[in-house]
Amino acid sequence: MNLSITPGINNVGAYINDIDLKILNKEQAKEIKNILNQFGVVFIKKQNLDPESYQKFAKDIGQPVVYPRLRGLDIKFPFINVIERKPSDKNLSFGSSWLHQDTSYLANDRPRYTMLMGIEIPSGQGNTIFSSGFNAYEKLPQDIKDKIKSATGVFSSAGPIAVTRLEREKEMGIKSSESMEAEHPIVKTVKGKKTLYVSPGHLIKIKNVKEEDAEYLKDYLIKHVNKEEFIFSYEWSKNDICLWDNLSILHMASEIKNCKRVMHRITIK
Ligand SMILES: [Fe+2]
Repeated sequence: MNLSITPGINNVGAYINDIDLKILNKEQAKEIKNILNQFGVVFIKKQNLDPESYQKFAKDIGQPVVYPRLRGLDIKFPFINVIERKPSDKNLSFGSSWLHQDTSYLANDRPRYTMLMGIEIPSGQGNTIFSSGFNAYEKLPQDIKDKIKSATGVFSSAGPIAVTRLEREKEMGIKSSESMEAEHPIVKTVKGKKTLYVSPGHLIKIKNVKEEDAEYLKDYLIKHVNKEEFIFSYEWSKNDICLWDNLSILHMASEIKNCKRVMHRITIK
């Protein structure tokens, strides 16, 4: 590995140091993707990318996906969504209050990665909370690991976090779609390491476990991934980029009150 990295707090993800994404070569892009898959989330500071370079970087990582429920930046940049919080906004921040893994309610061709860039950042609030599915899985007691070995989760867009999406749909004038549901194994393997895929914001049921254990395991795992020891509360600066793998990293927004914040978001397959 040639790039310099520093682990995040509680060993959640890694900072990639001393890199300018504007002049990224193919080899460095490959290495970033490797670090991303291995650590789950990468933090790349001081980038100041124009929309063109930002969208180009997303294409170096994979195939960007159009996300219709958020406002697009410009017709020229169909993959960049604007997440804007205004000082007068009173509703819950998009993606707040529940740890989740983006679009877990879709079947197998769902986007795997999510990327945010800080455009306008208020000081002292609006952290993004990350939790490592790798670390959380590793610390599970063996009897729980045994119980969930073949378990699947039922994930629904109408799960607890739906309230923040419904508010976006109202803003966009989109008629609320039927809820979407998908089933996935809750233990996944990425680069040879097991990770928890339990998206508490969407998880409605655990299957393929003993019937009498299902509810208990659901509550247990949700509490488990929320434990302080697996969390990194990331404080943003303008021009920071966070890029995460939804298979191994859970995240949520935190509340923002009485100030403006703008982020540019791209989801990637
Ligand atoms: Fe999210």
